[in-house]
Amino acid sequence: MKKIGVLTSGGDAPGMNAAIRAVVRTSIYHNLKVVGIQRGYTGLLDGEMKEMDIASVGDIIHRGGTVLKTSRCEKMRADAGINEAIRVLERNQIDGLIVIGGDGSFQGANKISCAGIKVAGIPGTIDNDLAYTDYTIGFDTAINTVLDSISKIRDTSMSHEKVTIIEVMGRCCGDIALYAGLAGGAESILVPEEKYEVTKICEKILQGKKRGKAHNIIILAEGREAAVELQKEIFAITGIESRVTVLGYLQRGGVPTAFDRILASKMGAKAVNLLIEGKSNRAIGIKDNRLIDIDMMEALTKRKVFDHEMYNLSQILSI
Ligand code: ADP
Ligand code: F6P
Repeated sequence: MKKIGVLTSGGDAPGMNAAIRAVVRTSIYHNLKVVGIQRGYTGLLDGEMKEMDIASVGDIIHRGGTVLKTSRCEKMRADAGINEAIRVLERNQIDGLIVIGGDGSFQGANKISCAGIKVAGIPGTIDNDLAYTDYTIGFDTAINTVLDSISKIRDTSMSHEKVTIIEVMGRCCGDIALYAGLAGGAESILVPEEKYEVTKICEKILQGKKRGKAHNIIILAEGREAAVELQKEIFAITGIESRVTVLGYLQRGGVPTAFDRILASKMGAKAVNLLIEGKSNRAIGIKDNRLIDIDMMEALTKRKVFDHEMYNLSQILSI
């Protein structure tokens, strides 16, 4: 292993910069050259890369986003794109590639590894939708951002005695909704993984009103349905108007939490060490508070298990 390339791909996530910093500094510590590939797979196909030195990753550990930039690159989904990516890596004598991203990004990395280029994957996505790891980089920051928004919305929702629907990101995964909803004391949490009927939410709203509790906070995962649809359903059943807040992209930004920075630092260093050991196609994760690495293909085929116990707890605590 002489030269490592690092890129960030898919949706950006707070903590990606801390991971890039760890990759660059660990590589330099081991006398390896390291190049930063710009704009994810798009930049890889365009050969957009430059060598990184110690100073190039100074002053970024606390910053959200990714200094390498990121993209969604349709070309990589076809064989022609993969072959071009391999050609670019070979032309630039990159023997090891570290991909920081979600499951889509890992799909691309897995295909590149089939050509003999060593790859390692670092899970970076706010969605926490990778089954093989307890946490992905960015998730902790995102749930804290959502929590902060819930607290602010709670103030006005309580003052105006309103029913509030807060739609959060997560693609098909309900983890952002579940974790932020439990921490924020939401009355109802709606996720794609649980069959929770709208009629139950309505019962809760009406029961709450009887008890003198006029406000009601509903956290809705985007993968379940759109907030405006739920708003219409609640009105049709109860005749009560609710207010909708779609949190959107603010969930992807912000200063990474200590948890995300530490996780990213450990994972970045681990990725370099695995490549130095001659390992390839490894997905790095954290299980029961210990760093792990498993075969990327295996990581991609595992099905995410939703934490039903935690969901049930949120139901009990919001009676
Ligand atoms: P994430 O990595 O956060 O899941 P995406 O699903 O958008 O985000 O994937 C990021 C990029 O990874 C895509 O834009 C594409 O370039 C690449 N990618 C996704 N799926 C595949 C696939 N099946 N084969 C090759 N590359 C893929
Ligand atoms: O994967 C991260 C994420 O923010 C998802 O939660 C969301 O569904 C998606 O990306 C939005 O993607 P885009 O940036 O393409 O709008």
